[in-house]
Amino acid sequence: MEKVYGVIGSPISHSMSPVMLNDIFEHYKLNARYHAFHVRPGEVKAAIEGVRALGLSGINVTIPHKVEVIPYLDEVEEVAANIGAVNTIVNENGKLIGYNTDGNGFIRSLNRVISNEELRSANVLLIGAGGAARGIFISLAAMGVKKIDIVNRTVERATAIIDDCKFDVDSHALSTEEASIHLGKYQVIVNTTSVGMHPNVEDMPLSVENIASKAIVSDIIYNPFETKLLHEAAKHGAIIQNGIGMFVYQGALAFEKWTGIFPDTNRMEKLVTRLLGGKTC
Ligand code: ATR
Repeated sequence: MEKVYGVIGSPISHSMSPVMLNDIFEHYKLNARYHAFHVRPGEVKAAIEGVRALGLSGINVTIPHKVEVIPYLDEVEEVAANIGAVNTIVNENGKLIGYNTDGNGFIRSLNRVISNEELRSANVLLIGAGGAARGIFISLAAMGVKKIDIVNRTVERATAIIDDCKFDVDSHALSTEEASIHLGKYQVIVNTTSVGMHPNVEDMPLSVENIASKAIVSDIIYNPFETKLLHEAAKHGAIIQNGIGMFVYQGALAFEKWTGIFPDTNRMEKLVTRLLGGKTC
């Protein structure tokens, strides 16, 4: 029987996940389809009951439901529980298990430019303290990265992430001024804020004047492909990376949880880049 997968979110019509996942289901000749389901706020409980009743094999969960979905699951994996957000659910013979592949998807995409071993001893700076930062921070801490500072416009939100982390870290919450002055000490800098996203393409979350040459700068934004932060960092000799990799790898890791196959991420990235082609500036 054909297996059914999907993604729930609101809004959902612009999600690239159905095209990306259906392409790899077909590529590996699996009898499965992936659909987008518009689930409005307040309907999450009913949607999860629907997953059970209809026997869907697995779903992704996107904004704004990643936190709300948790109480309706049978089990939540440790890192996802610490993050407090689930983006992937596996239906194991009627038991719904929640995972978070966003943070690990980010790390897997970062592995294109830095190994986990190097990452563990690196000084990392996260810009931003929203849901995306929380997922990346906890996932980095869980894999043994010790030095992860957070800079945020609202410093208390950065402190809250550090305090909530159950894994051993040596972290500081910084103001934008402090981070700008000491930027040169970080080997890895990650923008998790929406600053610089289309249409505000001239905005930057931080000045890169003091950046170390050869620092890695990763921006989780992919529209535009190259944010001003990445553009300016590259001018200073940094190695830059946009958010397409994180999107692709979070999907690849979800696919692996459902099928046991780690898919061809180059194929996925090519497809996503093509889909975005018309939309970026
Ligand atoms: P997400 O869940 O996608 O990470 P979020 O929870 O709304 O989204 O977090 C957005 C992040 O971008 C926050 O770190 C936010 O800073 P505050 O915590 O101070 O709100 C940051 N952010 C958004 N717009 C910003 C702006 N114009 N300048 C600086 N930071 C901004």
